[in-house]
Amino acid sequence: MRPLASRISVMSGEGALSVFARAKELERSGRSIIHLELGEPDFHPATTVNDAAKRALDEGKDRYCPIAGVPALREEIARYLGETRGVKVSASNIVIAPGCKIGLFMAMMALINPGDEVLYPEPGFPAYRSITQGLGGVAVPFMLAERNQLQPDPDEIAAKITSRTTVMITNSPGNPTGTVYTNEVQRRVAELAVRHDLFVLSDEIYARIIYGQNYVSMMNYPGMEERTVVIDGFSKSFAMTGWRLGYSAAPASVVSALEMLAVNSYTCVNEFIQYAAIEALRDRNGNTPRMVAEFEKRRQPFARELSSISGFRCTPPQGAFYAWVNIADTGIAAEEVCRIMLEEAGVAAIPGAAFGDSGKDFVRFSFASSTATLHEAVERIRRVSPAWERTAVAR
Ligand SMILES: Cc1ncc(COP(=O)(O)O)c(C=O)c1O
Repeated sequence: MRPLASRISVMSGEGALSVFARAKELERSGRSIIHLELGEPDFHPATTVNDAAKRALDEGKDRYCPIAGVPALREEIARYLGETRGVKVSASNIVIAPGCKIGLFMAMMALINPGDEVLYPEPGFPAYRSITQGLGGVAVPFMLAERNQLQPDPDEIAAKITSRTTVMITNSPGNPTGTVYTNEVQRRVAELAVRHDLFVLSDEIYARIIYGQNYVSMMNYPGMEERTVVIDGFSKSFAMTGWRLGYSAAPASVVSALEMLAVNSYTCVNEFIQYAAIEALRDRNGNTPRMVAEFEKRRQPFARELSSISGFRCTPPQGAFYAWVNIADTGIAAEEVCRIMLEEAGVAAIPGAAFGDSGKDFVRFSFASSTATLHEAVERIRRVSPAWERTAVAR
């Protein structure tokens, strides 16, 4: 048989999904599993959102619709971005996509040529590296190191920019570290983008899930409006993961490219879901702030409890809903820690190397589960933690 296209061999899957598959297998064999591996809120959309979807279906909104999205939703997103993060865009800057990841994929298709160097945060969302490589680009990581409080280092980024660098990806709050980039870091990153004429893909999917600070978009810095593509959507902020709805906010030239790519791929997004999304954005009952307040209640206690486990160290994240735990002091590899937690304690979490090599001493736990479940998970891990030492000694 003829070989497949070479791009497939340079792309990668997602660690979360393979851990999830094994956890499900154990569940099917009757084991009790606590799922802390997936980035999925333990909430559902407001009933008003479900009602709006049903109403739209009853009204026959189940047709092909405009490529860039239903005008009323694009208007609402422009208003929402202005209100929640001071981004000044109009409906014509918005392109709807079936999920943030497709929004990201399309924007990268529009901006990256083979051979282009693309800067991205590491540890980071695996798709940044995978898609870059799939497009024939060169993925150049900048580090989120503990010695920098998991913040990007603008000096390191500056040193990694070459004449072939075309795009920089930023992700604040970030997956998996929960880092919210400081104003100083963002200002300097924006200056570099302007000086070197780079596009910035600002993945803002966790912008609303932030603890005790105001969110500032990369698009808000001087000179950034014309070179920033904001990626956001409904999966996290509105607990709508399975609805598959995201969007890009982009300069006009990029919007045309995204429309061209949409015509050639998904054509348009589910019409009735777009109408329901308008209701989600209006958030009349304050669902999003309520969900974030619940995450906030779990954040510090969970980090504290995890840190009380032998060999674990965790600083509470500033955004998103992940605990990024340094496990170097267990004396064994993160993969082994995760294997013991899953197979012996029934707690699913992801080895940090799934987010890049620099994550190898870490494990990511999602805290999108009830306080009681999180507490139970920590107690289960505590019970198997003597295995760290036994495994290290046996080696
Ligand atoms: C940083 C980041 N970007 C994008 C996505 C993809 O979101 P969606 O499910 O809307 O495709 C995720 C999902 O986990 C994410 O963590």
